Amino acid sequence: MNSELMSSLKNTLNIELINAALAKTPTGGNAQQFIWKWVSQNTLHVHHESALDAHYLNRNLHTSWIALGCLIESVSIAAAWQGFTIQTTVQKDLRTVITFTPASTPVPSAQFMSLIKRSTFRGRFEKSEAPNLHELQRQNSDVQVHVSDNLSLSDKMIQFIKSADMYLWLQSKATVSFFREIRFFDPDTTKRGIRSANLGVGVADQIMLYLFSFVPKLLSLIVRIPLLNFSFKQASIRNLKNAHFVLITSSEDDVRHLIEVGRKSMQVWLQLEDQGYSVQPYSTASITLLDARAGHMPPDILEQFRTLFSVTGPEVLAEQFHLKANEKPVWLFRVGKK
Ligand SMILES: Cc1cc2nc3c(=O)[nH]c(=O)nc-3n(C[C@H](O)[C@H](O)[C@H](O)COP(=O)(O)O)c2cc1C
Repeated sequence: MNSELMSSLKNTLNIELINAALAKTPTGGNAQQFIWKWVSQNTLHVHHESALDAHYLNRNLHTSWIALGCLIESVSIAAAWQGFTIQTTVQKDLRTVITFTPASTPVPSAQFMSLIKRSTFRGRFEKSEAPNLHELQRQNSDVQVHVSDNLSLSDKMIQFIKSADMYLWLQSKATVSFFREIRFFDPDTTKRGIRSANLGVGVADQIMLYLFSFVPKLLSLIVRIPLLNFSFKQASIRNLKNAHFVLITSSEDDVRHLIEVGRKSMQVWLQLEDQGYSVQPYSTASITLLDARAGHMPPDILEQFRTLFSVTGPEVLAEQFHLKANEKPVWLFRVGKK
């Protein structure tokens, strides 16, 4: 191959690799609300399909902005792998233009393979050492990474997580929304929504949840009866065992910072998986605090959750993760080894 052809190939972006990264980027409830279109060999248009992201938990599009940050980081990793850098322009409606230029000093990123393998884990963890994210923690940024070892979890923190987990069952519109995103007994792993097999509960529980999916409001009512100790209620408690927690904080709540949170979270997620850890976002115990701070709690929120997300949660997370006064919790992850 002559050297001219070689260098022209080096300067050609492999669009299929970027498409693969886009297909693997996480979205809340697996809504896959971002639609993309290539308008030239080095320009990508991404738009946010609001009909797909209408989820009770996606208040003020907070979840979508964080997911957009994940998407931008995924694209950046796939571009870096090929020796390209990206420039992004993001509009208020989340419409995003991404352009690709060859990097002056290419830094091939090994993270691309990790991205293609990345997944959300919802099962049980074995005992493990806490992960080491020192490199990311050292970076001086408005968006910070904190790790809490399983052994140092306070009783208040455990109680907070358990209470936040009940949001999906007690807040009836959240329950309805949750059931809308579940695909019961569907083998297809690529479709929108979450397969019941990936919920981290056994088949008996999936059948029970399937039956309740026809009457979600009834579930919200009877789950309050303490004697009925549903096993899927127990699953959240079981899943706390051996889990370490990683919290991403931000100094501001505006969309630019939420995108940064998404980008940093993807780096955290991939580094954790590279170290052999599995990862699950815990949005009901974190993004809900952002909703509360920004004045976007649902109008029908039950008093117990209003207090949990606006008072108790911020206090507990600040204490557990030793947050500085200007650090606001945005996204929490449960982390451990299978
Ligand atoms: C902003 C955001 C919030 C999410 N919140 C949760 C969550 O609270 N619990 C959870 O299990 N997964 C959560 N996820 C993970 C998605 O459900 C997951 O990425 C999606 O179902 C696709 O599955 P995969 O990550 O295995 O490819 C979240 C993802 C994003 C981007």
